[in-house]
Amino acid sequence: MIEVSQLTRVFRTYKKLPGFWGGVKGLVKRDFEETAAAKDISFSIQEGEFVGFLGPNGAGKTTTLKMLSGLIHPTSGRARVAGFDPTKRENAYRRLFALVLGQKNQLWWDLPAIESFNLLRAIYAIPADQYKTTLDELVALLDVGKKLNVMVRELSLGERMKMELIAALLHRPRVLFLDEPTIGLDVVSQKAVRSFLRDYNRRHRVTILLTSHYMADIKELCERVVVIHKGSKIYDGPLDRLESSGGAKKKIISFIPAAGGAFPETWQSGFATGTTRNDEGKFTLCVPGDKVVAVSQEILGTGPVADITIEDVPLEDVIAELFNAQA
Ligand SMILES: Nc1ncnc2c1ncn2[C@@H]1O[C@H](COP(=O)(O)OP(=O)(O)OP(=O)(O)O)[C@@H](O)[C@H]1O
Ligand SMILES: [Mg+2]
Repeated sequence: MIEVSQLTRVFRTYKKLPGFWGGVKGLVKRDFEETAAAKDISFSIQEGEFVGFLGPNGAGKTTTLKMLSGLIHPTSGRARVAGFDPTKRENAYRRLFALVLGQKNQLWWDLPAIESFNLLRAIYAIPADQYKTTLDELVALLDVGKKLNVMVRELSLGERMKMELIAALLHRPRVLFLDEPTIGLDVVSQKAVRSFLRDYNRRHRVTILLTSHYMADIKELCERVVVIHKGSKIYDGPLDRLESSGGAKKKIISFIPAAGGAFPETWQSGFATGTTRNDEGKFTLCVPGDKVVAVSQEILGTGPVADITIEDVPLEDVIAELFNAQA
């Protein structure tokens, strides 16, 4: 459904020297600074896949999604979505995809959402019965029936995001580019948007490329992730393989010693790669997967503990490790 091959986008920005004379020099000779926001990115996505697109701030995620949407042109390389070249901005392509930018408002601010939806119906020439069915389904799934007549600027952030999603889906796109659709939402709204997206993807087999800085979104929705760093792709594959990368799968063991002082503040485990102690006296250890039993025995053999937990390394940390290894 989506084929991206060696997609590259270089941004040219003027570098102005500081001060008055810097400005004057700039009139004569302009210094450019070139940033490759995307460098030789290639991947392909099958119909119906829900792929997470990850990377730190400035990695090039939005730039790539904008190229896929035809909003900006690649400097080199090419993209095809359902056979279309996005740069041509054909009408048939516009009907096929939707781009949702969580950072940007796409609805008319001074109109109730329902009026924006009616305008979109006219723009996309959506047949009346199809429009009604789609709108009813979306409104029910997102539970915003009571808010349709409220001016968009008076909606809460979460309600507005739900309306943005409805607006994006009214013309029943087959491909969705979602750029941080849950940004700034509280935990409850994030969950609502997430479960909506999961349902919607399954129900209609739409292809979705999602960026989010919230790992919960990615974990819950995407089996596959593409990770970019400084414009280049550094990982493409199953999320669980990413989570277990970095040699043997690591675990985090935390424990609180029982009163009695068998654990000095400087206590270290012989097997763990790192041991830290917080102000409340809780020890946290990062342990290779095959040493979990040995370390647990070591802890319990040293002295009584009030509480002990064994958890997976947070995905954020695994990804940060991946970035650091590339830096
Ligand atoms: N219009 C532009 N002109 C110049 N540079 C740009 C432009 N748009 C993006 N960039 C630069 O390209 C790089 C990638 O930006 P992009 O917005 O794609 O990152 P991102 O991965 O979406 O980051 P974030 O997680 O912060 O949204 C950044 O260094 C950014 O400053
Ligand atoms: Mg971005």
